[in-house]
Amino acid sequence: MCGIVGYIGEKIEIVPFLIGGLRDLEYRGYDSAGVVFLDDGRLNVVKTEGKVNRLLKKLQDRGLTHKKSTLGMGHTRWATHGAPSDDNAHPLTDSSMDFAVVHNGIIENHVELRRELQSDGYSFVSDTDTEVIVYLVKKYYRDNLLDAVRQAVKRLSGAFAVGIVSRFELDKVILVRQGSPLVVGIGSGAMYFASDVNPFLTYTDEAVFLEEGQIAVLTSRSVEVMDYDGSIVEWESMHIEWTPEMASKGGFEHYMLKEIEEEGKVVRETLEGRVNLDGISLPELSGASIEQIGRLFIVACGTSYYAGMLGKYLIEELVGIPVEVEVASELRYRRFPVYPNDMAMFISQSGETADTLASLRLFKDRGIKTVSLVNVRGSTIDRESDVTLYLRAGPEIGVASTKAFVAQLALLYLIAFQWAKERNALDIREYASGLLKLPYQIEEILSDKEAIKRLAEKYYSFRNFLYLGRGFYYPIAMEGALKLKEISYIHAEAYPAGEMKHGPIALIDEQMPVVAVIPRGYIYSKTLSNLEETRARRAPIVAVATTGDSDIVRYTNDVMWIPRSMEIFAPMLCIVPL
Ligand code: M6R
Repeated sequence: MCGIVGYIGEKIEIVPFLIGGLRDLEYRGYDSAGVVFLDDGRLNVVKTEGKVNRLLKKLQDRGLTHKKSTLGMGHTRWATHGAPSDDNAHPLTDSSMDFAVVHNGIIENHVELRRELQSDGYSFVSDTDTEVIVYLVKKYYRDNLLDAVRQAVKRLSGAFAVGIVSRFELDKVILVRQGSPLVVGIGSGAMYFASDVNPFLTYTDEAVFLEEGQIAVLTSRSVEVMDYDGSIVEWESMHIEWTPEMASKGGFEHYMLKEIEEEGKVVRETLEGRVNLDGISLPELSGASIEQIGRLFIVACGTSYYAGMLGKYLIEELVGIPVEVEVASELRYRRFPVYPNDMAMFISQSGETADTLASLRLFKDRGIKTVSLVNVRGSTIDRESDVTLYLRAGPEIGVASTKAFVAQLALLYLIAFQWAKERNALDIREYASGLLKLPYQIEEILSDKEAIKRLAEKYYSFRNFLYLGRGFYYPIAMEGALKLKEISYIHAEAYPAGEMKHGPIALIDEQMPVVAVIPRGYIYSKTLSNLEETRARRAPIVAVATTGDSDIVRYTNDVMWIPRSMEIFAPMLCIVPL
């Protein structure tokens, strides 16, 4: 992923706007960053390998931070074609600085296009796929930027979002969306655009989400949307309910810390008005009666996929319908049978993950009903699903998903209980009361972060970790391991505890700490035997266990405690310390 942000309108100090926007988008990529802005009638480009702070330093060194301008675009990159470097950073320009392009996504036919453009005499300076866009626009330019862009994009295959400016037509920015998100913020006397709404929330709460295959021409006072053939498309703006405060760091050192701290509040919000002691209220599902569903597919990526795995366990156990949980990037390239009474559920924080979106379209094309669990209203998955249930987690800006995961689990509990009530007359009361306690129990765990911090300090120098869990706790072990590798750059692998003896046990020794997700419950003694095996190989063992479990301390070196709860809710509590 990469992030795009931009502005056209009355003169403002353009650098602070672009840098602020890029910081909001760093979750989409952070190995290089750059900006282009109109500066005394020419396009001024500053870019660098590294994070946004390095770009800011470069802008400061050149005395550009207070420049006023009517036009600018910024980009934060996560390298796909060409290593992170100054040359490969965006914006990409042609050699005479007539055109500048920021791009998110992949141009699949860039090799052929580059060859063609090189034989036309254009020389390339980067290893990126993006540079072909610059030279295609240049090649087709005949005093009309829009025409040139339309001709250029018709030559591109792949998924992309692009912003293009030219020094010949400084009163406009052209955007193209094909497979990667782009949102336009409607201001007064100014237009904003970005990969998501966060960069412009301070300036406007009216947004237009571009659809696939659309081109938008932005001036300071107008937005014109069309398809690649130039047919004008009516657009409607959407009111964004998130506030700039919700998207701020709120005094925390990192977004991720803030978002972890919000987990109790987020679960409370997700449950708000949807559950009380008498029952569950999910009106969104009223058209999806469980009686009509023969099989459920749950499709997602990464953290959202692990939430889906727990969803499978819950729904199969409580509702009794078969559930296939699928990684979207695999499913979309497979051939598999569907039946008319299948239903497909998609889980996505952003609502923009390309593989999840492609899978959604695949099911829709095959006439299968689609339900999505999404955080970002107005996102493509939200717009294209038959039904959406919102996570209500607020903006998740940290790269690593935390609060969205607990919100996803909360929604999956609600859905499982609702369907179990419909189908098996499940008595909701006890479950409802357990659910409603969760926000408080999460807050209780977070009130003792020092204990967790001490463990982090004790274990951080190990290079490999094995996470083990069975049943409900296996998806939690997977998610725990993902967080460790993603955030600490420490290799971590998760295994269903019972599978350990089928190979991975060979790796276990005193250099391989084992993190066991083992609250008291139906599978406790089984996981305990697996811990015996790891202990025999002298692996240090850290457990996530239930407060008051005096047995676990005999098997482990350290324990992270979670409060007592109904067992079905323990997975939600276990993920908090992990
Ligand atoms: O926005 P999505 O939930 O569709 O994103 C899917 C994954 O990319 C995402 O969950 C990713 O695995 C997490 N950010 C990792 O912490």
